[in-house]
Amino acid sequence: MAGDSAGATGTSAPKWSDELSELERAGEISVPWVRQAAEWLAGRGRAARILDVGSGPGWAASVLAASFPAGEVVAVDATPEFVARAAERFAGLGLGGRARAERGELDSAALDRLGPADLVWSSHVVHHLPDPVDGLRRLGRLLAPGGVLALAEGGLPARYLPGGYGVAAPGFVSRLEAALSDYFVHHWSLTAPAVGGGRDWPLLLADAGLHHLDSRTFLLDVPAPVDDQVRAYVVDRFTQIADRVGDRLDAQDAAALGRLLDPDDEAALVNRPDLFLLSAFTVHLAGPGAA
Ligand SMILES: C[S@@+](CC[C@H](N)C(=O)[O-])C[C@H]1O[C@@H](n2cnc3c(N)ncnc32)[C@H](O)[C@@H]1O
Repeated sequence: MAGDSAGATGTSAPKWSDELSELERAGEISVPWVRQAAEWLAGRGRAARILDVGSGPGWAASVLAASFPAGEVVAVDATPEFVARAAERFAGLGLGGRARAERGELDSAALDRLGPADLVWSSHVVHHLPDPVDGLRRLGRLLAPGGVLALAEGGLPARYLPGGYGVAAPGFVSRLEAALSDYFVHHWSLTAPAVGGGRDWPLLLADAGLHHLDSRTFLLDVPAPVDDQVRAYVVDRFTQIADRVGDRLDAQDAAALGRLLDPDDEAALVNRPDLFLLSAFTVHLAGPGAA
């Protein structure tokens, strides 16, 4: 994938740099589950050198630095704006001495110079690559002997309200998800693993010559009533859903989405005391395959 394009080849391909505020918000919201995953990894043994490949603005890398207090952490991303933000974050947290951010592309041989690492973390990056198995192979090449690749991919889509949200016919959430899948396939050129097609990640890791060790799923569980930060995140998500797929929904579902985003409606996300955030994120571990 070249530069900060999302991997789509058309001129309308979205740019990663446009996603900065979304990735910042999502990164902050994700800290609790990433912390659980990092503690699980730390419990498996020490890691002196840790890479976060496709780090975005550096939230997970900061969490990994906290869970591996003796580790050196390098956050690598193809998008210069995210690299700059990650570097600011590390400096702000006083991690400057042992965490750094670099621009780098997973599909470039130049990345090999960052290895070998005891732990390679890569979250929600590989499914964007035109050839995910090749991406996994490249991540595997960064591992030191005995090193572990922690691949965060898959899990369960988020839920925010019960049933039809009180505004739509049953099946509303499934219809939204189907429209979003379709949007991602066409606008972001996502490949089969990202949209639940083909082989699952443990098999893809094996296809890449890696040895699947374990998989564990972490909950992001914020029950009602949510705080202002979580509510703003959910409102953002739905605003984005409306922008992306509002015109792919039928009139009833489009009207329901409009009600959720209309602050004057008592059913709106900003007014709902029953709003929650429940999602699940899977981390697959793999080691180098047999030589
Ligand atoms: C969905 S975001 C995930 C960010 C972060 N890891 C997270 O889980 O929040 C995908 C990230 O991968 C980066 N990226 C996309 N293609 C890449 C490539 N070929 N090499 C390195 N980074 C890439 C993007 O710039 C973006 O930061």
